[in-house]
Amino acid sequence: LLLIATGLSACNAQGKSNSKTGSVKATSNFNPDVEIKMTAQPVSMQLLDGKKTNVFHYEAKLIKGKARNLSEIPGSYLGPVIKIKRGQKIRVIFKNNLPRESIIHWHGLHIPPEMDGHPMHAIDNGEQYVYEFTVVDRPGTYWFHPHPDKITGPQVYRGLAGLFIIEDELKGLPSGEYDQPLVIQDRSFDSDNQLVYVEESPMQRMQGFLGDQIFINGKKNLTQNVNKGTYRFRILNGSNARIYKLAWSDGSELKVIATDGGLLEKSLNKPYLMLAPGERVEIWKDFSDFKPNDNVTLESLAFNSGTSMGRMGGGGMMGNMGGGMMGGNSPGRNGEAMELYTFIANEDKGKSLEIPQTLSQIKEIEPTKAVNYDSPKQFHFYNERMNWVINGETFDMEEVADWEKVKLSTTEVWQFINGDDGSGMGMMQDMMQLPHPAHIHGLQFQIIERDISGMDADVWNSVKDGFIDKGWQDTFLLMPGMKVKVVMSFRDFTGKYIYHCHNLEHEDMGMMRNYEVLP
Ligand code: C2O
Ligand code: CU
Repeated sequence: LLLIATGLSACNAQGKSNSKTGSVKATSNFNPDVEIKMTAQPVSMQLLDGKKTNVFHYEAKLIKGKARNLSEIPGSYLGPVIKIKRGQKIRVIFKNNLPRESIIHWHGLHIPPEMDGHPMHAIDNGEQYVYEFTVVDRPGTYWFHPHPDKITGPQVYRGLAGLFIIEDELKGLPSGEYDQPLVIQDRSFDSDNQLVYVEESPMQRMQGFLGDQIFINGKKNLTQNVNKGTYRFRILNGSNARIYKLAWSDGSELKVIATDGGLLEKSLNKPYLMLAPGERVEIWKDFSDFKPNDNVTLESLAFNSGTSMGRMGGGGMMGNMGGGMMGGNSPGRNGEAMELYTFIANEDKGKSLEIPQTLSQIKEIEPTKAVNYDSPKQFHFYNERMNWVINGETFDMEEVADWEKVKLSTTEVWQFINGDDGSGMGMMQDMMQLPHPAHIHGLQFQIIERDISGMDADVWNSVKDGFIDKGWQDTFLLMPGMKVKVVMSFRDFTGKYIYHCHNLEHEDMGMMRNYEVLP
């Protein structure tokens, strides 16, 4: 840790990487249970028929640990699946062989700031960064992805993401091939099978990247044969900006067993689920009653995202810009219906399981214990003069405002508001409204209030049954006009973490800020 700390102090405030300080080394008195060497590099892969596609890939090698600690999804552009137990120690030696700077963020984990992948820790091509931490979080589905300032979107888009699964402590859940990740992403390709990103279209960039093809687990194959048994699907929305309204095509309810921070106390039945970029949800699915060849599709239903890309002259700008600024074959806005993944039953019988009555214990944080319970901090997410801002500010590598400082071992309530605070720019601020997935690094929080009084009724009605405001979360969807209160405790570590919009284009445009845990 000392070596790491010296390496970091030389970062400059402009968002450049700490290239002058060179590599960071492993510490000798840290004895990991699992050690992985992970290299981010450009490779070309057979994703579509015909020409290979140039992607970025996390290539991982297990240096210490058991075979199950590290696996690859065959044929996928995604990085590995890391599996580990709570209480174990992990070392990841990250080597950057990308043309640009990068750093890995362990999304959802409670780890020290210098292990969290703050953009100030980004390393240049040829350098390495050593992560060493103890896994303290609840069993669940977490993930990792790059986090360099201003270029997170393109790096994730090109394939850099992987799963970090903290293994179950509860028995009786589907396991082995019956326990599967489903990473949902959208991509677009040109006629040479190369990935197309948003660089060419300022309006698409403003909205966030929306692709016209679905990839599941980093592959184009959108069907799977399943046995007639019970499965657990760990669903991650790994898309840059696309929000899904998940539903089963046969109208059956989704049985939800877990959120970002692991298992719920009890399962919940939902007609559909809203899943914003960065969020995870786990669902239970029993195919026992299926006959061979029966199938069911996981779909994304149409919804009203409340997107307004210009309210001047009564809904004008969007209409006036037409296809032009949005690009010729614009994939449209968030909220269009899509088919995601189809499950087709085999002849084979699998195990049929019942959902355990009690899945886990959730210790509720008592909001009245918060030091600012009577006057929660407010974080306004909105567009100001074509910038995505939080309380009027964009990201600065070092800066922490007074309202972003918290004290170690305290509990606070933060209210996130999609919309401006009513002061200042007025109409100009309101010109663009979009949903924002809000994410806070370094901890899990609980959602205590979702205030819809400022929302358009149409928008609310099209999403209202899709939220799970129970259990532990690290990311949540903030629809236009919505206000969400979360309660969280700042424990164990001091230093700077970030919080931001997980629409990666918004994040790259600066809709991200530091918060600092002070001693
Ligand atoms: Cu998954 Cu700061 O992000
Ligand atoms: Cu956003």
